[in-house]
Amino acid sequence: MSDDIRFFQLNTGAKMPSVGLGTWQSDPGLVGQAVAIAIKVGYRHIDCAQVYGNEEEIGIVLKKLFDDGVVKREDLWITSKLWCTDHAPEDVPEALNRTLKDLQLDYVDLYLIHWPMSMKKGSVGFKPENLAQPDIPSTWRAMEALYDSGKARAIGVSNFSTKKLGDLLEVARVPPAVIQVECHPSWQQSKLHAFCKSKGVHLTGFSPLGSPGTTWFKGDILKHPVLTMAAEKLGKSPAQVALRWGLQMGHSVLPKSTSESRIKENFDVFGWSTPEDLFAKFSEIEQARLMTASFFVHDTLSPYKTVEEFWDGEI
Ligand code: A2P
Repeated sequence: MSDDIRFFQLNTGAKMPSVGLGTWQSDPGLVGQAVAIAIKVGYRHIDCAQVYGNEEEIGIVLKKLFDDGVVKREDLWITSKLWCTDHAPEDVPEALNRTLKDLQLDYVDLYLIHWPMSMKKGSVGFKPENLAQPDIPSTWRAMEALYDSGKARAIGVSNFSTKKLGDLLEVARVPPAVIQVECHPSWQQSKLHAFCKSKGVHLTGFSPLGSPGTTWFKGDILKHPVLTMAAEKLGKSPAQVALRWGLQMGHSVLPKSTSESRIKENFDVFGWSTPEDLFAKFSEIEQARLMTASFFVHDTLSPYKTVEEFWDGEI
């Protein structure tokens, strides 16, 4: 098998490019340059979020790329996310308007509820006193209105457990097109993956390399013997093998980098594949969630007293 897995078709009919540039933890000052490099290399999908604090810089670069004729808006896939402080239905369209203004766009291709947890309007940071009770069905109705308006051409969620996605599907008029979650060889999301397949929701993996640069995450998946062995046999890097695993599983992947050589390396995942015998070895990798979201857990100020509760046992 050496098929190119360049796109995944969503339940809206749209084709989403399978490899997107992640911009979480891409420093202002570096992110714009990274986006420009990525688009010149061939990336057609950029994953953004208001809370990353870098959408304005990305917008300036996108405008220049459009003006210079490097890429057309309609050939790009831009995702952004609704932050937890803007979950009240009346705040949802305003939050998207802010993102569109910063990105200098008329629409996003995909807009996601960033987390299934709310925070007080205008609050900054992860202090427990900022936490607020979520009402996802009412936030989702406001997301559906954005979809109807065409300002968000697809809508979805991020960081939802299988149960929380199932609860949303029960009440949604427009079903989520995408769920974006942590997903890599050492957090494979098997349960969520199967559920998404059965419901026609596409799964996108963030931290597809296991975020080796995030110091508060434990371990480095790129050093795992299954990955280094597969990489050696295939003549690829462990990062490429991790990304190709995601694509062959049917997930889109969002590797983050601000380094030109790694941005290129992370896009060189087409035209080859990991054969079945090596692919099967990935199921032996011990599993652990890196992003536990303990900042959303509190004895009295959160509906979730433990991380197990927050993730409905998927941890
Ligand atoms: P950098 O931006 O300096 O390239 P993830 O996408 O899983 O969150 O991982 C992002 C982290 O992995 C960043 O620290 C990034 O650093 C690093 N990284 C990105 N691409 C590669 C690669 N091909 N090999 C090793 N590390 C990488």
